[in-house]
Amino acid sequence: MTESAGRLKDRRIALGITGSIAAYKAVELMRLFQNEGADVRVLMTTAAVEFIGTLTLETLSHHPVDSDVLSLQGDGRIGHIAAAHDVEAIVVAPATAHWLGAMANGLAGDTITAACLATSVPVVVAPAMDGGMYAHAATQANVARLREFGYRIVEPESGVLASGMVGLGRLAGLHRIVDATVAALSGAPVGGQPTPMPTRTDMADLHVVVTAGGTAEPIDPVRFVGNRSTGKMGLAVAKNALDRGAAVTLIMGNVSVEPPAGANVVRAETAAEMQAALRALTPPAGPRFDVLVMAAAVADFRPRSPSATKLGRSAGLTLEMDATPDLLAETSERVRASLPAGSRRPILVGFAAETGTFERVVAKLESKGVDLLVANDVTESGSGFGTDTDRVTIYSTDMPLEELPLLPKYEVAELLLDRVLIRLENAAAKSDVPAVAGVPQPAEIGR
Ligand code: CTP
Repeated sequence: MTESAGRLKDRRIALGITGSIAAYKAVELMRLFQNEGADVRVLMTTAAVEFIGTLTLETLSHHPVDSDVLSLQGDGRIGHIAAAHDVEAIVVAPATAHWLGAMANGLAGDTITAACLATSVPVVVAPAMDGGMYAHAATQANVARLREFGYRIVEPESGVLASGMVGLGRLAGLHRIVDATVAALSGAPVGGQPTPMPTRTDMADLHVVVTAGGTAEPIDPVRFVGNRSTGKMGLAVAKNALDRGAAVTLIMGNVSVEPPAGANVVRAETAAEMQAALRALTPPAGPRFDVLVMAAAVADFRPRSPSATKLGRSAGLTLEMDATPDLLAETSERVRASLPAGSRRPILVGFAAETGTFERVVAKLESKGVDLLVANDVTESGSGFGTDTDRVTIYSTDMPLEELPLLPKYEVAELLLDRVLIRLENAAAKSDVPAVAGVPQPAEIGR
C-alpha cells in the first residue's frame, strides 16, 4: 500500500457509523483513513453505539465521538453543525436501510443525517444490509435519491451475509470506500452506474465462484510469462450468475474487460495467488460455495526462480520453468475430502482450451474431477481467446456430450448455468440437506 500512502494527508474526514452488524469494520476503516494521513472524527447513531461502543473510536481518533444530535461541544458549538463545517468530507459506512431512508427524506433524527444536511462537503455512502432489504424498491429509491444529491455511493458486494444467507448487501471492501473518498476529495466526477439488481431469481441463495482471466508468472519485477486469455468467458459467467440472483465471488487474473458490478472481486495475478484464493474457499470445514466455474487460463508453467531485480538484456535469457499445480483437480479433491457428511456437493465446472482435436477432453473431465467440462477449439475463428463468441462442446459425467452452435459468450454462460442448475436440483432431490453455502458460517458473518 506504500504507493497510496498519504493520499488523504491532513484531510479532515467525518466517519458516520450507523447501526449495521458491519459497524465492527468501521474501526479498521478509520485506521485505513489514518494510514492515508487523514484526521478522522467519528459520528455515530445510537444503534451503532449499541453495536460497537465509542471508547475504541475515541481512543484511536483522538476526538470525542458525537452520537447525540442534541449535544453541545466543549466550546458551546452544536456537535453536528461543527462537524458539518469543520470537515472536508463525510463518509457514512456502514449505512443501514433506515439511515438511507432518513437521509433521502431529510429527516435529521441522528447526528449523521443532521451533519449531512448542514454540510456542503462531499458525502460518500457505503450501504450494508441484508440482500432482500437492499434489493427492495424502497431502498433502491432512497439510494437513487442520494445519488441525486450528488452523494457518492459505494455499492455493496455480494457474499455471505450476517444471516448466513448469500446476497448483495455486504459492506464494500474498505479500500473501495477509501478510494471513493480520495476521489470525492479530488473533485472527481461522481460517475459510476448503480449495481443492477438481478432480473431473475433462479440462482438466488447460491454462492457461485468464478475464476477468470489469465495468470501472469513473474520472470522479474518487469516481465512475466502469460497467455492470451482476456477473461471474457469467465466474466460472462459471473454476469449471468449475478443476473440470476446469485452471490458471485470472482477470482480474477489478468482481464481486458471490466468485471460486472456486484461481484465480490478477489485479485489473483499468479497461479499461486489463485491457488490461495481457492484454498480459502475450501477450508477443512467444507467448501464455501455451491458452484465453481473455473474459466481462468491458469499458466501451465512458471519460472523456477524469478529474479528480484530487473534482468539486463545483454546476457540473453534462458528460463527454467516448472509446471504449476492443477488448481481445479486440487480443488475438486479438497471439496470431496472436506464435505460435511450429508451435505450437497458443489457443482464443479472446468474449461478446456484445445487446438484441433477434443481427444484429450474426456480424460481431463476425469482427471480434474469435474461435473461439466466446456471444451472449445481456440484455433477456430470466432471462438476462444478475445472473441465475443464461442463454439463450445459440453462434456459431462452423466449426459451425452452437447455441441452448441457459435453463440455470444453470455449465451454460452446462460446455457452452461442452466445445466449447473439441473445438477443442483437433481442433487437436492436426492438429499434434503441445505446448500453448502446456505449454512451459516460465523467466521464469514458480515464480511
Ligand atoms: N487449470 C487449473 N490449473 C492449471 C491449469 C489448468 O486449474 N494449472 C484448469 C483451467 O482453469 C481449466 C481446466 O483446468 O478449467 C483445463 O485447462 P486446460 O489448459 O485445458 O488443461 P491443462 O490441465 O492445462 O492441460 P494441458 O495444458 O495439457 O492442455
